[in-house]
Amino acid sequence: MAAARLSVVGTGIRPGGHLTLETRHLLAGADRVLAVVDGLGLEHLRRINPAAESLQDCYRQSPGREASYAEMVRRILAALDRGGHVCAAFYGHPGVFVWPAHECIRQARARGLEARLYPGISAEDCLFADLELDPALHGCQSYEAMDFFLYPRLIDTSAALVLWQMAALGDVRRDRFEADPAWVRALAEVLMADYPAEHVATVYEAATFPLSEPRREPISLARLHQVSFSQASTLYLPPLAAPRLSEQRLARLGLVAEDLGPAAYRRYRDR
Ligand SMILES: C[S@@+](CC[C@H](N)C(=O)[O-])C[C@H]1O[C@@H](n2cnc3c(N)ncnc32)[C@H](O)[C@@H]1O
Repeated sequence: MAAARLSVVGTGIRPGGHLTLETRHLLAGADRVLAVVDGLGLEHLRRINPAAESLQDCYRQSPGREASYAEMVRRILAALDRGGHVCAAFYGHPGVFVWPAHECIRQARARGLEARLYPGISAEDCLFADLELDPALHGCQSYEAMDFFLYPRLIDTSAALVLWQMAALGDVRRDRFEADPAWVRALAEVLMADYPAEHVATVYEAATFPLSEPRREPISLARLHQVSFSQASTLYLPPLAAPRLSEQRLARLGLVAEDLGPAAYRRYRDR
């Protein structure tokens, strides 16, 4: 058996369809595949590598999110102890909001082993496609919802705002999987300090099957506590207005607004 090495990959949001060629290649060549997927997702992986095992039972065996994640890391490291190429697969992008993916890389490296994280298609990638947004236009702020609520940030209302893990809002002991309505209301109040109460956000859920449609539910901030948030909900807030061009910074470079080209000039003129 070759020296132990770890590849951490993402299966995307839609089983099968979102696997990159690179990920497919890594999965096919791995000696062991441990994946936090079940059902159709696992079936897809087993078509590529029949040895693929699900780590989904970690949620049942070690209740509480922290304990489940620790168990996933323990099992991935135990697989590495047996040598060969181990592929750990998580849904979406494995490096985006996935503590166990980063942790198993850290622990594998601490043991002197080769470990690498590969990109996958994240929920935010799907959001950009389904809501037809280009972050180049206004910029985009992206936060975990509870972290955003508990650690006040300067909100830039001229850029888009994406809040992840809405269903975990208020789950301080990390053992529940649904949003606490009192926290949703409190989050909305924080947002309404910077946005008008009638500012319309979108509750977004990417389709997880090829023929199904995404959830794109518009809701004003004032009514945010009245909608349901699932494990797959991400909240999107569009920008309020375009940012202001700094004439001082332009002048610092000896430029005027017209020098920036038609699109930037139009934004300056229309502001
Ligand atoms: C633990 S994070 C995992 C993210 C994942 N690694 C990724 O790359 O998208 C879970 C959060 O991702 C977002 N998410 C997961 N599935 C989603 C979906 N189908 N549509 C929209 N957002 C989703 C939600 O904010 C959810 O609370």
